[in-house]
Amino acid sequence: MNEDKLEPLRKRPIGVFDSGVGGLTVAKEIMRQIPNESIIYFGDTARVPYGSKSRETVTRFSRQIVHFLQAHDVKTIVIACNTASACALEELEKECDIPMIGVVKPGARAAAEVTRNGRIGVIATEATIGSQIYSHYIKELAPNATIYGKACPLFVPLVEEGLWQDPVTEEIARRYLMELIDCDIDTLILGCTHYPLIRSTVGNIMGERVTLVNPAYETAKELKRMLGQKGLLNREAPELGSNQYQFFVSDAAEKFKQFANSIIKYGILSAKKVNIEEY
Ligand code: DGL
Repeated sequence: MNEDKLEPLRKRPIGVFDSGVGGLTVAKEIMRQIPNESIIYFGDTARVPYGSKSRETVTRFSRQIVHFLQAHDVKTIVIACNTASACALEELEKECDIPMIGVVKPGARAAAEVTRNGRIGVIATEATIGSQIYSHYIKELAPNATIYGKACPLFVPLVEEGLWQDPVTEEIARRYLMELIDCDIDTLILGCTHYPLIRSTVGNIMGERVTLVNPAYETAKELKRMLGQKGLLNREAPELGSNQYQFFVSDAAEKFKQFANSIIKYGILSAKKVNIEEY
């Protein structure tokens, strides 16, 4: 595509979505790594959690959000949710005429590069673990690796309640992680975008020998590379007052705003509630 046609495309926002607040860990990394970009974030706070739902339901929800983001003229979509990446990315990619990336592939790639003993743990929602998607991608890159998956369904509500460094979270984490410690893993993927918020609790239990992989960081890196390759990186920072970061949710906008401000520390002024069933 020639330069004249690319310029207006570059200025379009990046669409980012998750079942709720977890994707903010990805949005934060995008803001840090590619600060010239604008973001439209959607958190499906009315229908969280996705992790205990079926593939069909998660795909239907994700499709509606993709339609919402497309209606806002985004130049690309980041599925900032492991569960939606595992259940819906492959199908939605085929339906969409703009590039789309998920969080699973970048996380799997990083883990395959980092491991020394080939024993990799994945903690994630029930749906992500059930899909075996991390195992699939890691084995493409490191066929001899052994992957140990552990669903940690209580982590999402604990994170959403703000109990990031609470004794309750520590006790539950210890129970979940014990079997991974016994598997002698040297790498652990935080396979749910909520989990980086309890990274220090998980890290303390796993010990220094285990490298934690945060797919949020890897995804922002991959996004930057992909946009650069397509000539779609915004060259200048958006003008002041241009509403660079916009947040939308399907319910409880005020609660989301407060939570988002505690993660992003950017001064999010509002989160708008939309009826996602209309899309
Ligand atoms: N943040 C979502 C993920 O990365 C999980 C939260 C949920 O269960 O909705 O999988």
